[in-house]
Amino acid sequence: MSRKESVAKYNIKIEETYRQRTLKSREIITNASRYVPDGDYRVSIWFEPYPTVMERGDGYYLYDVDGNEYLDFSNNWTSMVLGNNHPKVVEAIQQQAPLGSAMAAPHTSAYEWAQLICDRIPSVEKVRFCTSGTEAVMFAVRAARAFTGKDKILKMEGNYHGSYDPMEMTTGWRKLPLGLPKSVEKDVLVTPFNDKETTERIIKENKDELAAVIVEGILGAAGMIPPEDDYLKYLHSVASQNGLLLIIDEVISFRLATGGAQEIYNVQPDLTVLGKSIGGGLPTGAFGGREDVMAVYSPKQKRPAHHAGTFVATPIAVMAGIASLKELTAETLARINSLGWSLANGLQGVLDELKIKAQIKGYGSLQQIHFTPEPVSTASTAYFTMDRDVLRLFHLAMMNKGLFIGSRGFFSITTPMTEAEIETAIEATAACLSELKPLIEEIAPKLVG
Ligand SMILES: Cc1ncc(COP(=O)(O)O)c(C=O)c1O
Repeated sequence: MSRKESVAKYNIKIEETYRQRTLKSREIITNASRYVPDGDYRVSIWFEPYPTVMERGDGYYLYDVDGNEYLDFSNNWTSMVLGNNHPKVVEAIQQQAPLGSAMAAPHTSAYEWAQLICDRIPSVEKVRFCTSGTEAVMFAVRAARAFTGKDKILKMEGNYHGSYDPMEMTTGWRKLPLGLPKSVEKDVLVTPFNDKETTERIIKENKDELAAVIVEGILGAAGMIPPEDDYLKYLHSVASQNGLLLIIDEVISFRLATGGAQEIYNVQPDLTVLGKSIGGGLPTGAFGGREDVMAVYSPKQKRPAHHAGTFVATPIAVMAGIASLKELTAETLARINSLGWSLANGLQGVLDELKIKAQIKGYGSLQQIHFTPEPVSTASTAYFTMDRDVLRLFHLAMMNKGLFIGSRGFFSITTPMTEAEIETAIEATAACLSELKPLIEEIAPKLVG
């Protein structure tokens, strides 16, 4: 039997169950296609045959329009660290809503939020706000260019930093993603994550043109891959020696410690980018860092760099962000990290028991299963060696069991969760992989043994 036929046999079972559970979702997406291209308005929530349409979230649960309940291990791509409707965040939004949602003037809340962020991250001496992580990356890159007077940026191969044109290079692994101008190819260089030798060579060869190197605290969307040894520290020293700034994108990794991944890996970047978890579930972003670098945006400069935005730091989003950050204490983050390590151990136990050679990668509350027998330390190993058919069927099988994990196979843990939810996730993984084992043996024998 060909791979296609074997997969189709399993597809019939798993996808058909999914379709039967989600009849209303299918109807809604089909009807929505009249107004929204194929019913998809955000690529990161789309999966085949069609995504589940959700009605509401409560704590660590999501409920879909067909009345199915899911344990939410995606939490809006890791951003809702407190779960879906934390009472302190709801209260903050309710208190601010009647007092005005946006105004073209500074609001005291933004300064309180700034202090909270600077107090948590020692490398952030000064901070400014945005409405998304994408924007925050864009303005951090602009700051680096304005400060150094150089244009080029070095990024990690396959790494995701949002939808800003230059940062899209090599995400999704198209050389030049559709719709991007050719000029970005000239301005962005790429290097494999965790590869000191190649990174150093590229930096040295291009130091006169490179303004900055940008890297995540751990590679998030590219596979929850942590830096090996002292890669981040090393990157900072090579960057500094060659006149480049180091930008650490903590949009995903900030939830790992009060001071983000830079606290864990003991590195003080020149600039830091934030998003997702700093906003308590509302659209926000921030970038900050060295006082002298951030001064490029100072209105007192003769010729400041430009940074604007109609909905930057709106009081409702900021109040939600403040309430959320106050809940995300060192103890709370340590607790969910420890749940994450338990999950990683449990998932590894399942793989060992079933003799499946997949890889569990992650740090603390962020863990991912990679269906590849190869050790994963760069985005390219994760992307090019994984078995996509196995991942797709595993994800759908988990959905059928009421486990809402990221469609790339990641588990993100939230503060309302306890060991009980971790156990449920491990048991569901064991059940789904047992069901898939005969298929894995047939189509991906390298994953077994
Ligand atoms: C590391 C990283 N940087 C930047 C972004 C972009 O953030 P946003 O989606 O808020 O624009 C993301 C989004 O997933 C991200 O994971």
